[in-house]
Amino acid sequence: MAKSKLRWQQLFDKVQQCDMEKGQFSWFSNGSLNISDNCIDRHVESNPDQTALIWEKDEPGTEERVSYKELLDMTCRVANVLKGHGISKGDRVAIYMPNSPLAVASMLACMRIGAVHSVVFAGFSAEALATRIQDASCVAVITTDQAVRGGKIIELKKMVDSAVEQCPSVRNVFVASRTGADVPYQSKDVSLDKLMEQADTSCPAEQMESEDPSFMLYTSGSTGKPKGLLHSTAGYLLYVALTHQAVFNCSPGDVYACVADIGWITGHSYVVYGPLSNGVTSVLFESIPTYPDPGRYWEMVERLKVNQFYTAPTAIRLLIKAGDSWPQKYNLSSLRTLGCVGEPLNHEAWEWYNKFVGQSRCDIVDTWWQTETGGICITPRPSESGAEILPGMPMRPFFGIEPALLDSQQRELIGNDVTGSLCIKKPWPGMARSIYGDHERFLDTYLRPFPGYYFSGDGAHRHSNGYYQITGRTDDVINVSGHRLGTAEVEDAMDEHESVAETAVIGTPHEVKGEGIYAFIVLKDESTEDENKVKMELKEMVAVNIAKFAVPDHILIVPGLPKTRSGKIMRRILRKIAGGELSALGDVSTLADPSVVEVIVKLHVVAR
Ligand code: WT7
Repeated sequence: MAKSKLRWQQLFDKVQQCDMEKGQFSWFSNGSLNISDNCIDRHVESNPDQTALIWEKDEPGTEERVSYKELLDMTCRVANVLKGHGISKGDRVAIYMPNSPLAVASMLACMRIGAVHSVVFAGFSAEALATRIQDASCVAVITTDQAVRGGKIIELKKMVDSAVEQCPSVRNVFVASRTGADVPYQSKDVSLDKLMEQADTSCPAEQMESEDPSFMLYTSGSTGKPKGLLHSTAGYLLYVALTHQAVFNCSPGDVYACVADIGWITGHSYVVYGPLSNGVTSVLFESIPTYPDPGRYWEMVERLKVNQFYTAPTAIRLLIKAGDSWPQKYNLSSLRTLGCVGEPLNHEAWEWYNKFVGQSRCDIVDTWWQTETGGICITPRPSESGAEILPGMPMRPFFGIEPALLDSQQRELIGNDVTGSLCIKKPWPGMARSIYGDHERFLDTYLRPFPGYYFSGDGAHRHSNGYYQITGRTDDVINVSGHRLGTAEVEDAMDEHESVAETAVIGTPHEVKGEGIYAFIVLKDESTEDENKVKMELKEMVAVNIAKFAVPDHILIVPGLPKTRSGKIMRRILRKIAGGELSALGDVSTLADPSVVEVIVKLHVVAR
């Protein structure tokens, strides 16, 4: 597959040399290739005018098409601009941009010169951007003047200004125009558009070793500090190309639309690298599912004649609430495959997606994977003609993936009808190789909990028919509208408040978002502050330190938290209270002060 699917500058001589216990992974040793060459130049040579990207801009009906030839020109110009500013192989470059062809060209330009991109979702706050830039000592930031989403302007450049103030490693900020607003320039700022006009349209693709890092992407774990997962070059590209083709049943000529943001792994693997390496037309969606109305996706499917559509369960649940009539207004006959990722696609949402969007003739693929896995790991494949697809679970491992379920004694569960920690038994080419600057943390998080296995952090059930169903995270990670957050991150942000003594954050079931955030707050004894004022300030602090999507849905001020005698917060009890399971709190007698539970329950009931 590696030989037939990819173009090598130098062919590898060994397929894999991996050691799961030591955390050493090498795929396609002694080979070299360049991801941008594979995603662009190859297709330009055979079919230069084929559309690479359709930029579905915020206003419906204003889409712009970019051919593979145009994408190559744009990418080379950006690459030459970066080179001209002293950026070279191994340097880290932060990209903080909304979905646009130039954002994709910026990612590919980094690939072309061997710089490691770190795309930061443009919904993250300036503070969160600064933390990520600092962690990787990025030498440059690429951004736009503003962003436009759902008809609203977002002051992106202003965020970058306040982030970069705290980031001495940044030498240049490249500013591209999205709206043309007259934004003030700071000392490090340069106009990307102007520099691109003068730049050459050809740039040789750097020779990259198979295991050279291609990009890093931050995700949340169970501690407060986000992890910069590092991905490889050859293994990553091969894995996303194969999964994209096989799972979506995609071939050149198809119009494929994954509506994710490039700031998430879904955007990297299934908006940019998978589809472009396969030479298909990839839609870049800049807007939101409800703009200008909840028919937006379906109107777009009709207008662009989309063949494969990939979204998140939270979007489907939101659109279900808007009513069945929206998808019925449009001609959806071009659709063949409908995908979903990010959280469990519940039975009801699956049925609706199948009936109203797929008109009961499309394949539904519920794909399970993670930032760490690089690409899809458990999913039905429509190209397996005849194999059944059932609602409510991702079902079957992709080829090369060997899932295993383990119990708390680290024993692998054999046979069916078992539930355990979801692990993967053998290395696969797309897996992350490390955490930037902290390989020990990589080992501790993924490879040491179950020696010899990769541990996902999720639990799963293997049904009697052998199919896998995900039961959710087993750690302190929550999933809000498909956005992954550590409870500790949210707690850390609120702990900064001067009147706050202690906080405990948990995820609680939410009809649309999958999980909502519930925060329990203990104020300092001497605090005389107005509770509503504190709550407002806490919400603001989370928005400023992390992002708006991380702001708690509920904040409850309580006199104390349920703790064991050794001082560990019993989140299990808080989860039950928040979820309204008041009669199922279980044994509270081991708590240091059992009476606190009763008080919290009363306060919760009054607040609801
Ligand atoms: C976590 C990974 C992979 C891109 C989007 C999220 C949850 C993901 C499914 C699914 C049930 C799912 C898991 C996983 N998740 N897909 N099909 N069914 N849960 O990437 O931010 O790295 O989050 O999302 O809990 O661990 P991520």
